[in-house]
Amino acid sequence: METLKKEILNCTACDLYKTRNHAIWGEGNFNAEIMVIGEAPGADEDRIGRPFVGKSGQLLDKIFSACGFTREQHIFISNIVKCRPPSNRIPSEEEVKACLPFLLKQIELVDPKIIITLGATALKRLFDNPDLKITRLRGKWMHFDKYLLMPVYHPSALLRNPELKKDTWEDYKQVVYKYRELVDPDHYSAHIPF
Ligand code: URA
Ligand code: SF4
Ligand code: URA
Repeated sequence: METLKKEILNCTACDLYKTRNHAIWGEGNFNAEIMVIGEAPGADEDRIGRPFVGKSGQLLDKIFSACGFTREQHIFISNIVKCRPPSNRIPSEEEVKACLPFLLKQIELVDPKIIITLGATALKRLFDNPDLKITRLRGKWMHFDKYLLMPVYHPSALLRNPELKKDTWEDYKQVVYKYRELVDPDHYSAHIPF
């Protein structure tokens, strides 16, 4: 992972390297059983050099906390592309093609039990299928390679449309139940009874 991190920090494989302040390689436990995949760093992430530290990240941390998960122990978090697309546009096909091998290698290294994709872009790009609809697939377990995968709405979608929070909480509850089933039957969440 340290080798991969160096490669990402020095990467010039797509044009996004020209405008980045930081390449955001990822964060969390390299041996986590949950891997969380977002779309791309935003302005705050690019400035600070860590994933999910802006408004979306703060909401995500609140959700993780309610689940009893921490980035330090339970989660490794990264993005489909590691450098910020200017004005937060969706990463282009070329950019995703250049960057996705890093993420696939990270998945292999972390070898989690559960993958969570955040939002439409992560879902479509990971499966390389533009027809996958987050509104239809969220909350339904999928298989990616040998991994169980739960698509959920992106936290930025929850900020724009708080009505999505109720369904999303049900999706994260499913992740906690699955974590108890596959990893730790005693996993504690103050909000999710055994
Ligand atoms: N949104 C993302 O998809 N990823 C980040 O790292 C921050 C915001
Ligand atoms: Fe390299 Fe990915 Fe950054 Fe493009 S987005 S420069 S492929 S690390
Ligand atoms: N639309 C998106 O682009 N992402 C979501 O997570 C939900 C709706």
